[in-house]
Amino acid sequence: MEIFKEPFGKLSDGAEVSRWVLINEKGLAAKILDYGATIQSLIVPDKNGNPVDVVLGHDTIEEYVAGDCYLGATIGRVGNRIGEGKFELNGEKYELFVNNGPNHLHGGKKGFDSFIWEAEREGDFVVFKRISPDGEEGYPGNLEVSVKMGWKENSFTIEYEAKTDKDTVINLTNHSYFNLNGAGSGDIHSHTLEINAEKYTVCDENCLPTGELASVSGTAMDFRTPKLIGKDIENDEPCVKLSRGYDSTFVISGHPFAKATGDLSGITLVADTDQPGVQLYTANFLTDSRGKGGLECGLRSAFCLETQHFPDSIHHPEWPSVILRKGEIFKSFTSYTFV
Ligand code: GAL
Repeated sequence: MEIFKEPFGKLSDGAEVSRWVLINEKGLAAKILDYGATIQSLIVPDKNGNPVDVVLGHDTIEEYVAGDCYLGATIGRVGNRIGEGKFELNGEKYELFVNNGPNHLHGGKKGFDSFIWEAEREGDFVVFKRISPDGEEGYPGNLEVSVKMGWKENSFTIEYEAKTDKDTVINLTNHSYFNLNGAGSGDIHSHTLEINAEKYTVCDENCLPTGELASVSGTAMDFRTPKLIGKDIENDEPCVKLSRGYDSTFVISGHPFAKATGDLSGITLVADTDQPGVQLYTANFLTDSRGKGGLECGLRSAFCLETQHFPDSIHHPEWPSVILRKGEIFKSFTSYTFV
């Protein structure tokens, strides 16, 4: 495994940003910024053996700082939405920044995606670490968090670990935008996708779960057998229509939980995790974004499989819990395997 670090520009306050490059024996490459522990590139061979960069990203740190679509970033402390940005824990009320309609999204005003993380090589992997201080974005507890990323053969793996000195909430994910035909190659309507999920979280007009877990059967949300992403994307199903495409959490019911193939490249992505859900997001708010190499990355030019707990779980005690207690160790993994 070849691993090296190189400069990737500076923030406006002069802080230096680095990019880690990991290339395995088969030539599969990953480029990860310490800014946001952000996956900038994943380069894998297509059906003819030619290298293809399958994730959206930018060429400069300035574009990452200016962007608001979380391209490739590590999301925390709580990914996805918290209704009205409020919650109660151990009888204490906490108020978070409201940045998505009436709700809190992806950690708030300055989430984990907007910090420079400490990073070091650990064997074949790079580990990104930060301490999110007590009260950051309104969350309780000093949270020590690490994200270990790298290749295991043709699997790009992400391992999260966290501990807190006070009970808190946590829902970490990675926000990579995949286009298996190559970043900047157009929309993903002709990609085939299969998701091992019998149910999804029904949402209101602000994409906040109502609490109902509905069956995918007979709906646009049914990906239990391989289907073109574009097939039902204009469907009248409220979840799809309101979001201008897919932007919903699926309740994972088997493993690996998803498989997608780019029609032109023949690249197949097999995704797995130990998390209970996955947000399928088809880049419905991505417009006029200039990607790497100046390539246009617009509406539905990628899809995200954000592995996570169900959104707003803190208000749904019947769902798997996002509470991390003092003294407990939070651990989770996600893998993206290219075949
Ligand atoms: C997704 C979220 C979308 C949108 C996107 C970032 O995770 O569900 O609604 O906010 O992130 O642009």
